[in-house]
Amino acid sequence: MSFNLIAECYDLLSNPKSRISKESGLYKKLIKPKQRALDLACGTGPQALFLAEHCEAIVDANDLSSDMIAYAKEHRNHKNINYQIGDMSQKFDGQYQLIICVGNSLNLLPSKDLAYQTIHNSIESLVCGGALVVHIINPQATQNQKVKRLEKQISLANGKISITKVLTPHKTGRNLHITYKPVSGKIVEEDTELLDITKDELLDMCSVAEVCQLDCYGSLDCQAFTNESLDILVVLRKS
Ligand SMILES: C[S@@+](CC[C@H](N)C(=O)[O-])C[C@H]1O[C@@H](n2cnc3c(N)ncnc32)[C@H](O)[C@@H]1O
Repeated sequence: MSFNLIAECYDLLSNPKSRISKESGLYKKLIKPKQRALDLACGTGPQALFLAEHCEAIVDANDLSSDMIAYAKEHRNHKNINYQIGDMSQKFDGQYQLIICVGNSLNLLPSKDLAYQTIHNSIESLVCGGALVVHIINPQATQNQKVKRLEKQISLANGKISITKVLTPHKTGRNLHITYKPVSGKIVEEDTELLDITKDELLDMCSVAEVCQLDCYGSLDCQAFTNESLDILVVLRKS
């Protein structure tokens, strides 16, 4: 799986402004100035920048993709953000007030064991009273059990590109097929496998002795969870 190809396209497609307007209220409640935050699988860095700029946090942000990190460093640089290439499922150093893993990044791990490990490493790296935020796809929502197709034209520095994303559910997860078609030049196709994790599985992964509060919502702006919510957002507190 490689996101290297799509850092710039990802940033334009993911609508970071609207994402931040939904998520910002939650982050503001969970961290205070000068406290430390970790953004796991930070992508192009909008959450890391929000935490540094608007919550005045000291932020570590990692991503497996060198291109995502290069894009984040170029476009969302801040003196209090340390961007690094890194694998979210590996143990990390440091103690944090807030750890986030949002934008369905946990679904990109190759197995549920690694998802479990990522959550447990995160809980270990929280200070007492610290919070972990995990946001994934709700595989049980009817809308998420259908094939989804999105076509969009975006303008990059070197010309227009048309992008088609097709998300096809199967027995254990979903396949994301992306086609990049520039006005002139080579068509590029990319396949990514996403792992399905249900709400109960995620809550089970988070239910360990050190956790004193475990809340589940249906969206990044903390709407109540229903079986038809497209997203699962879990917020836990370490005792
Ligand atoms: C859908 S993007 C989400 C990015 C960002 N968190 C957001 O909410 O917009 C998923 C990101 O996960 C990264 N990723 C995939 N596997 C990873 C891993 N094992 N460790 C760290 N990052 C990973 C990808 O490179 C990509 O940037």
